Amino acid sequence: MQEVKRNILLNPGPSTTTDTVKYAQIVPDICPREKEFAGIMAPMRDDLVKIVHGDTKEYTSVLFCGSGTICIDITLNSLLDKGKKAMVVKNGSYSSRACEVLEYYGLPFIKVESPVDEALDVSLVEEALKKAAADGDEIGYIYMTHHETGTGLLNPIREVGALAHKYGAFFITDTTSSYAMIPINVYDDNIDFCMASAQKGIMGMTGLSYVVGRRDIIEKSKDFPTHSYYCNLYRQYAYFEETGEMNFTPPVQTIYAARQALKEYWEEGETAKWERHTRVMNALRKGIDELGLKEALPRDIQSGLVAAVRYPDDEKWDFEKIHDYCYERGFTIYPGKMQGRGTFRLCALGAIDEEDIRAFWKVFEDAMKDAGAAIPAVYKD
Ligand SMILES: Cc1ncc(COP(=O)(O)O)c(C=O)c1O
Repeated sequence: MQEVKRNILLNPGPSTTTDTVKYAQIVPDICPREKEFAGIMAPMRDDLVKIVHGDTKEYTSVLFCGSGTICIDITLNSLLDKGKKAMVVKNGSYSSRACEVLEYYGLPFIKVESPVDEALDVSLVEEALKKAAADGDEIGYIYMTHHETGTGLLNPIREVGALAHKYGAFFITDTTSSYAMIPINVYDDNIDFCMASAQKGIMGMTGLSYVVGRRDIIEKSKDFPTHSYYCNLYRQYAYFEETGEMNFTPPVQTIYAARQALKEYWEEGETAKWERHTRVMNALRKGIDELGLKEALPRDIQSGLVAAVRYPDDEKWDFEKIHDYCYERGFTIYPGKMQGRGTFRLCALGAIDEEDIRAFWKVFEDAMKDAGAAIPAVYKD
């Protein structure tokens, strides 16, 4: 196996992959309607449930061909029963996207807004639920992003999931940037539905996304109003249950890569993998501190997977220039997603370890020097 040039991706996914995952895509051509191909997806669907400790009799996973946003779209539009309202915790760019999706479909929802750089006060959710009940609004589900990847903020899924259940709603959480990294347990964390994409936590390729959720609710959603032909959870689930296949053409080679990525996930193990991501984040934080850089969020409310680093108040600071310098040397850093504030992101996803981060900081320091930016970095506050 010839080694592929190794780039260290510090963007929030797609992430650095192993060569074995890359090469897993090179397979003889196959028609995905052959039984052999369905035979690949069946154990994969179970594995995706087991990653979040679900019992495959109670939970299932439904695969889709698309980027992560497809799962936001699908869960929101497929799981709202007639006469019910959705409730969305909006405190970052991905929950804002969820609101846009609901607006796009013209579906009724209540927003619980909270600052993007502060820990969520869970009592806001309970107040909103009480108010909804007093107003005669029935809440079908609460939707919340687990890890708001734009800032690195971690949301309290367990508490909000418990509130959803207390008030008779079910709980959907976007775990796209935490699944298969931060250990998640659907029972302990009160999750009815979560979701992810192959290019993030499992360290596979782009183009495959999945919803993991409760079979009984999916079965029930057969009778919920439908809003999309292609992006409907029950339709895809029913097709899988009947045939073992995706309704429409699957991303064949990406699925082969995902099979290998899952094999490597189990070999590494949930605990060791999370420890590695933590090691990587600690190495990132060490470099941030050594160069005098500052983050937008306090560390105790972060996921431990994304650092949103503030641009220094330095006229010589030039993100593009520093990015290009690092990129040319095999390290990808990524712009931030915080409106009105200059930030860039350093992420601990992917098949990387602390020595990669040590190498990165050497290059980054040279990039700052090359741009003429002050070290340690300067900030007005
Ligand atoms: C929390 C979260 N949700 C959803 C997505 C899906 O985005 P995309 O459609 O670009 O894969 C991402 C991607 O970064 C994410 O971090």
